[in-house]
Amino acid sequence: MILWAAFAVFASFYFSPSLAVQYDIDSSCSFKLANVGAAIEEAILMARRSVERLDNAAADHTNADDHTTTDHTAAGHIIADHTIADHTAADHDIGILFSRIFHTTISDQEAVQDVRNIMDSIANITRNIDGGEADLTLYCDNDARWQQGPGTYYLPTDPHFKLPRAPACRSPGTLATMYSVPLDHPRHDKLFAQITVCDRLATMSLSTLQDYLGFDWSTGGLMDPTVNPYHLLSVYLLHELTHFPAWQRPLTEESGVVYDVGPNSYWWQNIIQKPREDALINADNYAFFGLLAHLGDSGLKLSDDGWQVGTLVHTEFRPMMNFGFF
Ligand SMILES: *[C@@H]1O[C@H](CO)[C@@H](O)[C@H](O)[C@H]1NC(C)=O
Repeated sequence: MILWAAFAVFASFYFSPSLAVQYDIDSSCSFKLANVGAAIEEAILMARRSVERLDNAAADHTNADDHTTTDHTAAGHIIADHTIADHTAADHDIGILFSRIFHTTISDQEAVQDVRNIMDSIANITRNIDGGEADLTLYCDNDARWQQGPGTYYLPTDPHFKLPRAPACRSPGTLATMYSVPLDHPRHDKLFAQITVCDRLATMSLSTLQDYLGFDWSTGGLMDPTVNPYHLLSVYLLHELTHFPAWQRPLTEESGVVYDVGPNSYWWQNIIQKPREDALINADNYAFFGLLAHLGDSGLKLSDDGWQVGTLVHTEFRPMMNFGFF
């Protein structure tokens, strides 16, 4: 969660395919946030499920367009609506979810590509295990690593990594942030960024969806005051990952970033108000899309009549999965 968009727009990179971004977890997280590794993997899984489900929805859409008046379509719909756990059935729910969150339809190819590119990039992140320098490091030091210099803040271990203002955790209300290197940094043309989880967030005892196995998310829905998506560290991390500079698309120079589009950038009731153009560059829209795409794997979807207030309902449909380890 970021309150300042400024950090997210330090540098703008054009999207390049097949990025092999590696992340690392700093030792400052070991005691403070032992589940951060599980949470980042779950965030990556949410992104992967978003891509797989979007791909399956697109195929369905093409069929519907091509055969609107033939028996073929009727048969197709019967299969999709009534087959339990048919992992090859086209995914209607993801198209509905897409339209509710991004204020456009699944046939808006440009919008689908934008979301798919960012989610696919996140899905491709892997943990750095070979001991080299990671592209993205997660810190839980409450931003203590930043030192104040004349008119700036910098990293003693990397003095070119400077901030134009005080680090985010020193500002009341900030929970987590992503820093990308400034344009004059020697690595500005490479992929290089850091995430800080501030103590405010680290002390909230956040969980992963996995920790809630067996919990019925349909009882309270997305806006329940006691258990809601903001109790999930993975949702915060997915939000932060969308800010990574390398995901930026070759749109215009100013709009090619995902940041926190004000006013009211966060939470379900706000993100569903965002018009298409804002929704496609607002981090929390991606965080909720990823969460709901993955909740579909446990048979949950937004209710048709209560979706605006975040009501979830059970469905027998299970989206197709492409990976063997589920
Ligand atoms: C993700 O990885 C796959 C497989 O290596 C690759 O085909 C795809 O282009 C990558 N996507 C992005 C957005 O980098």
